[in-house]
Amino acid sequence: MIKEKIRIAIFASGAGSNALKLIEHFSNNKNIEPALIVCNKPGAGVLTIAANKYIPTILIERERFFRGDAYIPELQQHNIQFIVLAGFLWKIPDLLIKEFAGNIINIHPALLPKYGGKGMYGAFVHEAVIAAKEKESGITIHFVDELYDHGDHILQVNCPVYETDTPATLAQRIHELEHKYFPVVVEQVITKKFFKEHL
Ligand code: GRF
Repeated sequence: MIKEKIRIAIFASGAGSNALKLIEHFSNNKNIEPALIVCNKPGAGVLTIAANKYIPTILIERERFFRGDAYIPELQQHNIQFIVLAGFLWKIPDLLIKEFAGNIINIHPALLPKYGGKGMYGAFVHEAVIAAKEKESGITIHFVDELYDHGDHILQVNCPVYETDTPATLAQRIHELEHKYFPVVVEQVITKKFFKEHL
């Protein structure tokens, strides 16, 4: 018998459209609850989304995240069991990866291993894809390990890149894929990990 929901923390640095889709997707879910938003950027759109949805937030700072306790005490206080990176631009410190071993997933707006790694985020990814005259791009949803954009892949979905594309038009196509697939994949991964025996 399942007693408690799996509480997830969504880490985001930007506008938060993926965070919003996750929050909406799980709004009536009996097993999974977005319980905390973790953000490193004052004024980020995701903070407004969190406030509107009455989800607590933590604004984190670099020194403590990378060279301190990585905010693990707060994550424990909120009973977080799973972390979803939805446009979070800092690398996850090893301490946090160990604490949440196998329970952190990320979405990347390209077909990894291409166009990943440090500095490859947001418009930079799409600019690089267009500059290389790629015929397709897409999304990669993957587990997070100690290396940037490196852990085991869970799902990749492709989309075309047109000659007329700008980073903005490609970003929009990619965002649509992210919004369609990310919440569903997060739900499937958590269900498989935590509720399999109860299905
Ligand atoms: C997404 O494209 C995600 O793949 C990338 O950062 C972007 C975040 O967009 N890592 P948003 O803040 O969810 O709108």
